[in-house]
Amino acid sequence: MSQILIVDDVPQNLKALSLILESRGYAVHTVDNGHRALQAAGSSPPDLILLDIMMPDIDGYEVCRRLKTDPALASIPIIFVSALDETLDKVRAFEVGGVDYIAKPFHPEEILARVETQMELRRLQTRLIEQVEAQEKVNKQLSEANVRLGNLLKDKEDLQGILAHDLGNILALMTLKLDILIKRYDSLSPEKIAHHLVALKKTKDQMASIIARLLDVAQIDDKPIKVNWQPSLPGMIINQVLDQYAGLASEKRITLNYEQAGDDEPIRTDPTLLGEVFSNLISNAIKYSPTDTAVAVRLTRNSQSVTIEVEDNGPGLSESDRAKLFTKFARLSAKPTGGEKSLGLGLYIARKLTQAIGGTITADSPGADQGSTFTICLPIGKNEPM
Ligand SMILES: Nc1ncnc2c1ncn2[C@@H]1O[C@H](COP(=O)(O)OP(=O)(O)OP(=O)(O)O)[C@@H](O)[C@H]1O
Ligand SMILES: [Mg+2]
Repeated sequence: MSQILIVDDVPQNLKALSLILESRGYAVHTVDNGHRALQAAGSSPPDLILLDIMMPDIDGYEVCRRLKTDPALASIPIIFVSALDETLDKVRAFEVGGVDYIAKPFHPEEILARVETQMELRRLQTRLIEQVEAQEKVNKQLSEANVRLGNLLKDKEDLQGILAHDLGNILALMTLKLDILIKRYDSLSPEKIAHHLVALKKTKDQMASIIARLLDVAQIDDKPIKVNWQPSLPGMIINQVLDQYAGLASEKRITLNYEQAGDDEPIRTDPTLLGEVFSNLISNAIKYSPTDTAVAVRLTRNSQSVTIEVEDNGPGLSESDRAKLFTKFARLSAKPTGGEKSLGLGLYIARKLTQAIGGTITADSPGADQGSTFTICLPIGKNEPM
C-alpha cells in the first residue's frame, strides 16, 4: 500500500485531504508542522508528500529544500498545497524541488489525479533505475567474461605454439626413426635396430612428459589443489630431489651443494607438493646454467618460517623476465643450455602449489649473467597439530 505524508498546520485541511486519499486506499500519515514532517519522512520515508506552504516555524519551501538535500529522501515526490488566502509562488515551488501544486478549494478528483500521476511517475522511475542497475551488472559481467575469454585465447595460442613446435619436433623425429626401421629393417644389424628403438622410446618419453605437464596445468586451473598435510622433514625432501637430479647435473658438470642450518625438524606441509616445487627450481637451475658451474641450496629456519633458497650461476633475470616469470607459458630470455625441453609452465605450477601449502615463492637476481636466487618460504604454525 502506498504511503502518503500530509503536512499542514490547519487540522481541517489535514482531515479533508486524508479522507480523500484514504477513500482511494492510500495509507495516510499526517503531521502539523515542518519539524515533524522532516522527522516523519526521515524515520519512515513515504511514497509521496503533500506539503502546505504557510506554516509557523519552517515553511513548506524550506521543508522541501531540506528533504531534497538528503540523498535517502530526495527522490520522494512533493506536491505543494496552498490555502485560499495564500499566494502560491509557483516558480519557487518548482525551484526547491516540488513536482506539482494544488490550490484550494480542494477538488477530490483533481487531488487524486495529481497524486496518482506522481505515483505512477515514481514507479516508472524506480523501474528505470532498477533496469539501469541490472544493465550495469550485465555490462560488468560481460566485460569480466571478455577478460577471461581474452586470457583463454592467449593460453590457447600458447598451447597451439607448443603443440605445433615441441610436439611437432618430437613427432618428426619419431617418424624419421620409424621410417628407417620399416624401410631398412632387413639390412640393419640388431645393434642398430636396438639403437633406433631406444631413441624412439626416449622421444616417446619426452612426448609423454609434455602431455603430462599440460594436463597438470589444466588440472591446477580447474579445481582446487588437494593438500595432504602431514609432518614432513624439509631437509629429507630436498635430499631426495637432489638425488634424483644428480645424474642430470653431472652430465652438465654442475655441482649441487646443499647447506642446512641446524637439525632437520618436521614442519606441517604436503611433502609431495613441496618436493614438486623444489624439483622445479632445481630443474631450472640445471637447465639454464652453463657447464662447470655450481648450484647452492640452503635450508634455514626461524621461529616463524622455513626458507629454502636455490642459487645458481646462470644467466640471471632481467627486470622484464622477473615480471613474467610465474605466468603460464613463460619462455623468457634464458634458454636451456643443454638442449632440454622448455614449456614455460614449471614456475607457474610451482607458485600455485606453494600457495596451496600456504607459502610464497620469489625470484631475485643481481643482474644479467650474475645468477638467480629462487626462494621458497613456508610459515610454521605455532600450535599446529602435527
Ligand atoms: N634459474 C633460472 N635462471 C634464469 N632464467 C630462468 C631460471 N629459471 C627459469 N628461467 C626462465 O623462466 C622461464 C620460465 O621457467 P619455467 O620453469 O616456468 O618454464 P620452463 O623451464 O621453460 O619449462 P618447464 O615447464 O619445463 O619448467 C624459463 O623459460 C626461463 O627463460
Ligand atoms: Mg622449468
